[in-house]
Amino acid sequence: MNNISPTLAIHGGAWAIAHTTVDDHKKALDAALKTGWEILNSGGSAIDCVEKTINSMEDSGVFDAGKGCVLNEKGEVEMDALVMKGDLSAGAVAALQDFPNPISVARRVMEKTPHVMLVGEGAFEFAKKQGFKSMHIRELVSDREFHSWKNNHEMHFGTVGAVALDAKGNLAQGTSTGGTRGKMTGRVGDSPIIGAGGYCDDETGGASATGQGEAFMKIMGCKTACDFLKTKNSAQKAAEKTISLLEKRTNGKGGIILLSKTGDIGIAFNTARMARGYARDGKIVVEV
Ligand code: GLY
Repeated sequence: MNNISPTLAIHGGAWAIAHTTVDDHKKALDAALKTGWEILNSGGSAIDCVEKTINSMEDSGVFDAGKGCVLNEKGEVEMDALVMKGDLSAGAVAALQDFPNPISVARRVMEKTPHVMLVGEGAFEFAKKQGFKSMHIRELVSDREFHSWKNNHEMHFGTVGAVALDAKGNLAQGTSTGGTRGKMTGRVGDSPIIGAGGYCDDETGGASATGQGEAFMKIMGCKTACDFLKTKNSAQKAAEKTISLLEKRTNGKGGIILLSKTGDIGIAFNTARMARGYARDGKIVVEV
């Protein structure tokens, strides 16, 4: 394929992001985009770009993922993550406890097992066997989230996601989250579910969602967005149609990033703010 502009689109959640945290969000998005762009720009693969970009957001402590993840009703972490490549290979973890980079564990599920998803204890044991380092919950989770868990259960949809197109025309997507604050133990959201919180197909495009997982699951949000690309919608139109459908059919709130197989970017949300950005041709754009 000729004339491909490697492209990376990311999000860090769609919700009523507090004004006082906008700068932190922008800085963390910018750092993640720089990390990912360096990989794409030096000829790296879409999947490497997606993993490292998301690792940067997981490590930042700013988003509801990795070190910033929210706690469930018992004050535990249960993280969900999915990676998917445009050739439809995929790996996911759900309700994974105490590992700071669930996206990397999900990638390992894709590359080292015959399965697509591991959950709970099985995911934990697999991560340990693969040499990932677990962290004590107090070391892993930010003071902000311990405070929030004890003092309020205000909604927080700070899931992170990335979709990349590399110079060879390969697509990949990743999505990583701590889920919803105060969620029931064992609750799994849309993020690790293929087609709901993430999807990727070299024949159409790649997408990652953020927001009310139960709503995205009901409309298979990311597969739906990619399917809209089949009928000659621009990526922007396809993203907007997906969020309209989410609202119309489920009254759900959230946002989506979509990258077509030609690198057309679509971003839509129906929340007060969405942390988002992209990198292409050496230009990095961040908005919150
Ligand atoms: N969208 C993330 C979640 O609902 O868990």
